[in-house]
Amino acid sequence: MTPVQASIKLAPSILAADMGRLAEAVEQVDAAGADRIHIDVMDGHFVPNITFGPIVVKWLRSTTRLPFEVHLMIDRPERYLEAFALAGADSLIVHQEGAVHLNRTIQAIHALGKKAGVAINPATPASVLEEVVPDLELILVMTVNPGFGGQEFIPGTLAKIGRVRRMIDQARPECELEVDGGVDPETAPAVVAAGAGVLVAGSAVFGAPGGAAAGMDRIRASLAARR
Ligand code: DX5
Ligand code: ZN
Repeated sequence: MTPVQASIKLAPSILAADMGRLAEAVEQVDAAGADRIHIDVMDGHFVPNITFGPIVVKWLRSTTRLPFEVHLMIDRPERYLEAFALAGADSLIVHQEGAVHLNRTIQAIHALGKKAGVAINPATPASVLEEVVPDLELILVMTVNPGFGGQEFIPGTLAKIGRVRRMIDQARPECELEVDGGVDPETAPAVVAAGAGVLVAGSAVFGAPGGAAAGMDRIRASLAARR
C-alpha cells in the first residue's frame, strides 16, 4: 500500500448492514480495518426515510473502539446534538440545508467536545461553506440525494468535490473531505482523484459478495489500481 492509499479512510455505513445484526456488522468492519463507523440518522422529515436514534448509538458503543460519526439527516439537528454526544458519537455531521443557524450549531457541537462536520446535498453549491470552513473538522459532500442507501453516484458532484478541496486547502487544510453515496470500486478512484480523503460506503461494503471485508478490500484495490 502506498502512503496515499493508506491515507484514504474508509467509513462503512451501517445503513446497508443487516439491521438485526448491527453489532456483528460493526465488529466485522472493525476487524477488516475500517477507520470509523458512519451512522445515518434520518427523521422522516428532512429525508423520507427513518432510521436510528441515540439509543442505537448507545447500544453499539461497546462493540468497538472505532470513532462513530453520526450523519444527521434531520430537521433542526441542534435539538439532538447532546443526545447523540451522550450516546457515544465522536463527530456530529449536520446538513447545511437543515441547520438555519449553522454557526451556532457548529459552536454547540464543539461545546460538547465533539468534532463538527457539515454536509451538503448534490444541489447545494460549495460556496455556502465559505464562512464555516475555518471552524470545521469535516465537510461531507453528498454524491447522492440523502435518504436511502444503494443509489447511483451522481457524476456532476465530482467537480464540486474539487471546489471543496480547494476551499479546504486554503482555509483549513486539516479539515477532512468526505464523500457519501454510491461509492464503490468503480467510483472510488474518481472521488479520490477529485480530492476526497474519506469514503463512506454502505452497499459496496455490506452488500458485497463475500461479505464486508471483501467489499472493503475491493474498494482499496480499486484505489491501488489507479496508481
Ligand atoms: C444516504 C446515506 C449514506 C448511505 C450510503 O442518505 O447518507 O451514508 O448509507 O449508501 P451507499 O454507499 O449504498 O450509497
Ligand atoms: Zn451518510
